[in-house]
Amino acid sequence: MKFLNTQDFAQQLDAADSLRSFRQQFLFPQHNGKDAIYFLGNSLGLQPKRTATDMAEVMQQWQELGVESWFKGDKPWLQYHDKLVGPLAAIVGALPGEIVVMNSLTVNLHLMLASFYQPKGKRNKIICEAKAFPSDQYTLETHVKQRGFKPEDVIVEVAPREGEVNIRHEDVLAAIEANKDELALIFWGGLNYYTGQVFNMKTITAAAHAVGAMVGFDLAHAAGNIQLQLHNWDVDFACWCSYKYLNSGPGAIGGVYIHERFHNDKELPRFAGWWGYNKATRFKMQPGFDPIPSAEGWQLSTPSVLLYAAHYSSLQLFEKAGMSSLYQKGQQLSDYLLFLLQDLNANSSQPIVQVLTPKENKGCQVSMLMLRNGREVFDALTDAGVFADWREPNVIRIAAVPMYNTFEEVWQFAQIMKTTCEQFQ
Ligand SMILES: Cc1ncc(COP(=O)(O)O)c(C=O)c1O
Repeated sequence: MKFLNTQDFAQQLDAADSLRSFRQQFLFPQHNGKDAIYFLGNSLGLQPKRTATDMAEVMQQWQELGVESWFKGDKPWLQYHDKLVGPLAAIVGALPGEIVVMNSLTVNLHLMLASFYQPKGKRNKIICEAKAFPSDQYTLETHVKQRGFKPEDVIVEVAPREGEVNIRHEDVLAAIEANKDELALIFWGGLNYYTGQVFNMKTITAAAHAVGAMVGFDLAHAAGNIQLQLHNWDVDFACWCSYKYLNSGPGAIGGVYIHERFHNDKELPRFAGWWGYNKATRFKMQPGFDPIPSAEGWQLSTPSVLLYAAHYSSLQLFEKAGMSSLYQKGQQLSDYLLFLLQDLNANSSQPIVQVLTPKENKGCQVSMLMLRNGREVFDALTDAGVFADWREPNVIRIAAVPMYNTFEEVWQFAQIMKTTCEQFQ
């Protein structure tokens, strides 16, 4: 599509947007009496209007039925999980039984490593991306230590080449090949939190399996942002959080995918708790762990039904909008932003931003390295009511989220950038 740098054109894109009514389902922080330009759905997604009602329903049921709420009422709590797995399966491309909603992301990563990092003899290495989100780095470092390894002996990081920003796909495949006899696991991000680069999970999975390694992905920035086909790609496991694109609130309950081929594998090590126990006999309270034969068999503890409710509110919107439409609009929003940034550079005596996000492999997040007056520009954006985030040394990340952001907001953002940058010329 040929883009134009005019407000009219942005408004036309909004008028043609089949998802435009979803914006009305969300609550926006206010700035000078108007909705702020909220471009931080990659950090904490906005609150759906119905979340408070769905959570209040749980409170009401608790008030009226007490512990009986697990079995009775409009939404018996024991069956609440069943409402979440269908919409999530559509978001990540899985079978409903391959999804479990539990805990939060870093906790789930450790639980999955307990099952899927199975070093045997010299096959003990883990390949991961260099400069992955810090929690992932700390997870791997402490997990391998706990298994008796030195991180430097078993963790192999793949970094961008000297002078480059993104990791080349061929370098990931080359690292797999170079370590093929020693590789136990590839643990990788679906979408890099800093640059916004999307990785080819299908090919990475095939390459890992070809050398006999397991594969797991951290989908914190991918779930609800890009299209995923975890089951068809044959991924072994994946974990994500639900407070970013999935709009389920601060500290929202996390999600895990485990391929169905592992569900009946009682030899696979795992940490267990009573909530993962065969539902038919759980309350017989017998010794000996008998897991539910689905991803739910990895649950440990009684879940927070309040967090389920907040998750449910948002997942219903995803069900209505559909991941494919959301992805297409997300691509269009970020393509439009890239066009406007190019225009900004072209109309300035010196370039103002260097886009770090690859044009072809991205979601809706765009990361900009600020070449001049970065901090001042960021502060001016904040003063103008734009929610963006700052990452050291001088990167501004923004995400125009297809569920609730508009093309006009993207255009307004570029205008604010232009006016601010002109002050420093
Ligand atoms: C890529 C990635 N991994 C892990 C985490 C940590 O998530 P949590 O704090 O929910 O464990 C985050 C948080 O933003 C993240 O972006």
